[in-house]
Amino acid sequence: MASDTTPPLIDQMAATTLDDGHNASALWAQFSDRVMIRSIVCRSDGGAGLAGQNVRVGGWVKTGREQGKGSFAFLELNDGSCPANLQVIVEKEVSPLEQLVQTGTCVYVQGQLKEPPAGTKQKVELRVEKVIDVGPVDPAKYPLPKTRLTLEFLRDFVHLRPRTNTISAVARIRNALAYATHTFFQKHGFLYVHTPIITTSDCEGAGELFQVTTLFSDAEKLEKELKQNPPPSESEIEAANLLVKEKGDIISKLKSAKANKEEITAAVSELTIAKDSLARLEERSKLKPGLPQKDGKIDYSRDFFARQAFLTVSGQLQVEGFACALSNVYTFGPTFRAEHSHTSRHLAEFWMVEPEIAFADLKDNMNCAEAYVKFLCQWLLDNCLDDMEFMVKNFDKTAIDRLKMVASTPFERISYTEAVQLLENVTDKKFDNKVEWGIDLASEHERYLSEIIFKKPVIVYNYPKGIKAFYMRLNEDMKTVAAMDVLVPKVGELVGGSQREERYEVIEKRILEAGLPLEPYDWYLDMRRYGTVKHCGFGLGFERMVLFATGIDNIRDVIPFPRYPGRADL
Ligand code: 4AD
Ligand code: MG
Repeated sequence: MASDTTPPLIDQMAATTLDDGHNASALWAQFSDRVMIRSIVCRSDGGAGLAGQNVRVGGWVKTGREQGKGSFAFLELNDGSCPANLQVIVEKEVSPLEQLVQTGTCVYVQGQLKEPPAGTKQKVELRVEKVIDVGPVDPAKYPLPKTRLTLEFLRDFVHLRPRTNTISAVARIRNALAYATHTFFQKHGFLYVHTPIITTSDCEGAGELFQVTTLFSDAEKLEKELKQNPPPSESEIEAANLLVKEKGDIISKLKSAKANKEEITAAVSELTIAKDSLARLEERSKLKPGLPQKDGKIDYSRDFFARQAFLTVSGQLQVEGFACALSNVYTFGPTFRAEHSHTSRHLAEFWMVEPEIAFADLKDNMNCAEAYVKFLCQWLLDNCLDDMEFMVKNFDKTAIDRLKMVASTPFERISYTEAVQLLENVTDKKFDNKVEWGIDLASEHERYLSEIIFKKPVIVYNYPKGIKAFYMRLNEDMKTVAAMDVLVPKVGELVGGSQREERYEVIEKRILEAGLPLEPYDWYLDMRRYGTVKHCGFGLGFERMVLFATGIDNIRDVIPFPRYPGRADL
């Protein structure tokens, strides 16, 4: 709760609407005892209208310096709510200054907002009256000193890197894009469906799956257990067999001697005990170290799911089931690919937004992808301009212009065949990968089309069937499929999608042609067997969108915890 010296608690929901510089009070955060720095410094008056107010703020010191021969200190405080810092002034009578000024120190303070002396950059500063709490930093040990650090260096500290201006700005932009994604699809009547992370179907049929298994840990446990408690020897089993026989003989003898019921019952229970012990020994004697095998192969019936299972490469196949019942759906979740790509555009774990639309064809699909990407760009311009300005200043001068251009310019649409013709006629650049009809376009081709030829996003459609997944609808020419990729400057492929093959006989043939087994896709074929419908969808690589928006060069820096070959920290 706010103390006597603080303004009354104001609903944080109001914070988003009352920042026009005219409201008299700073806005108290609803679920923590402080004012968010954003609600002070991000007002249109820079916070000037709040001078005279008592507030409590918390944050981490970006830079600190003692001044006036150590009589007071300036701290630049940031709490992550916006890129800007609040300037905080502490006098030595209020608190020892030395520990406060270290970069990375957490300070939680209370004081009065004041108008700074004329000529300074800030519109408001905080004069501290009370230091409530300090989370100190030993500067000799803190891994993120004040100096500018490379993004590559920061990857060694993924848990601390959100403290940097760049990673925190990326985090806010990423958050805004996620919010915008849900806003866009909800606004258009799409239902959010949670598709499974663990799956038994390879959506792309490309075999880039991470396997999910407990066989290795089970085998390790067993090996350890067998060392501590070795399996029974043959002579032990023989002895146990003999005991069972002896106990059986005793019963026979007792029965022929017409012994009384109690004696026989006691002998029977001894026989049962001997049999149980033999069964246990026989069971243990079968235990072998290593992975369970059957017919010379790994026996997955002994695995956790009693079959082979994987991390999903895409939620598409499952979300299609929902589209074929609920019409307009989307999934947005993590996807995993065991590609050994060491590029600045690939991750082993990335997030994908995948809408799926029933009663819709390739053109509807392109319209949806274009509208969605435009919406995301406009959203950042409307809601994240301060972070985007940071990106322009520090990473990519053209980032805001690019968003504006994409938000307002119709995307080019060309067929794959036209794209190949254009690329074949390029004379001012030599591509590393040869261009001819039938090739999968490489990133250099995709970027040339969108950056050099069209200077805007390009949707390439109708790709050769040989380079695309089995589920894409075969065109009448029997050579191409109704696929579409959205290519954007800076990134290349941002979106991949298609109209789906809804004809049972055709898709069955396509699965077999792709060299895939039918059995794992049998459930998927049910959608064509029963109530089949024309439908389409696409996947937008969420990190590629963040790359595109921010102008950051490497995809490893736009996901909080990057996973790529050789690296999965934390
Ligand atoms: O083109 P992709 O492979 O399409 C699919 O997975 C479809 N099942 C989507 C659908 O139709 N529902 O992947 C879609 C997008 C790509 O365009 C790219 O932006 C991104 O996902 N992507 C990756 N992003 C980061 N790292 C990787 N390894 C990626 N692979 C694909
Ligand atoms: Mg693709």
